[in-house]
Amino acid sequence: MDRIRIALIGYGNVGQAFARMLKRREDYIKETFGLEPVITAISTGRHGGITNANGLDTKNLTYDMFDKDLKAMDVIDFGEYDVMCELTPINIMTGQPATDHIRRALELKKHVITANKGPIAWHYRELRDLAKKQGVQLCYEATVMDGVPVYNMAQETLKGCKITEIKGILNATTNFILTEMEKGISYEDAIEEGRRQGFVEADPSMDLDGWDASAKLTALMNVLMDETITPMDIDRIGISGITKEDLDKAAAEGKKIKLLCHGYLKDGKAIGEVKPTLVDKNDMAAIMDATMSYVTVNTDLMGEVTVVEHAFEPEIDHTAYGVLSDLLRILTNTR
Ligand SMILES: NC(=O)c1ccc[n+]([C@@H]2O[C@H](COP(=O)([O-])OP(=O)(O)OC[C@H]3O[C@@H](n4cnc5c(N)ncnc54)[C@H](OP(=O)(O)O)[C@@H]3O)[C@@H](O)[C@H]2O)c1
Repeated sequence: MDRIRIALIGYGNVGQAFARMLKRREDYIKETFGLEPVITAISTGRHGGITNANGLDTKNLTYDMFDKDLKAMDVIDFGEYDVMCELTPINIMTGQPATDHIRRALELKKHVITANKGPIAWHYRELRDLAKKQGVQLCYEATVMDGVPVYNMAQETLKGCKITEIKGILNATTNFILTEMEKGISYEDAIEEGRRQGFVEADPSMDLDGWDASAKLTALMNVLMDETITPMDIDRIGISGITKEDLDKAAAEGKKIKLLCHGYLKDGKAIGEVKPTLVDKNDMAAIMDATMSYVTVNTDLMGEVTVVEHAFEPEIDHTAYGVLSDLLRILTNTR
């Protein structure tokens, strides 16, 4: 049987969850596409990399098998693979080194999947055009709302519609903290609880200051509205200034405060905003509790269309599914 060979650049939470999910859908991929999916290369930051053109046994992989001197670019340049998955940590301020990884793989005519939103927020148009020129695909479903089909819905299901506005709650951490604070829990204790549950990072400042939401809104506007903005262009306010008194005052008026993302056009210019916003308690945003998120796209032919991400355990499987769904999209399109 022919094989589809996959290189994982980054093998942390997402990379490992994807490797497990790929195993679970191995038979499906064989039956549907007549291809055996194999992971032939893995790259990490501290442990180096490992390649095996015959396929790696990820279930029994240990870091002492890795070559410490094998860097990501070596794996991308010399590994034997058809699809490169960019799963390294995000740098919201530059999109690097992930953008260089993706650019190089595309130059080598490899399909690319990224869960890392940095390159899509910073360099989407260049990478999209390069992929097109090279005759390969660039997929990025997991960059916003994990495996929830945001891009897929817009690109595959709402074909022919022009998207004129994007609204939503795109950062689960801040939504969780605001929800906890509404219950009377302090800002600091809410952060600590999120850490205990495993989804708040050791340094949550990128979430709390609205950078993560800004990068996601930027990625959505670049892809779905064909803009060329960066996270720096977003008018951004985080949630650190929100107090329990603010939330109580809002509640007394039948409202809630949510960290809303809003992308729209004003006099033909793209405007992106991430701000704590008062919303009516019956509003779509108000019913998004804890780690739920949603995005509404406003289209010229179909009006508003919304997708919601519900909480799920294990949460990382949502992200892994985003990567898997991109792989299945590539296989479908290249069949
Ligand atoms: N976790 C989520 O829920 C989620 C959801 C959506 C999107 N994402 C995105 O998915 C990506 C991966 O997230 P994650 O949670 O899996 O992160 P993670 O657990 O921190 O794993 C990152 C992996 O990348 C490796 N790495 C770091 N620098 C590298 C480099 N220069 N070259 C090659 N490998 C490198 C790390 O190796 P070392 O550990 O040895 O440094 C590790 O294996 C991020 O961009 C994240 O924003 C994550």
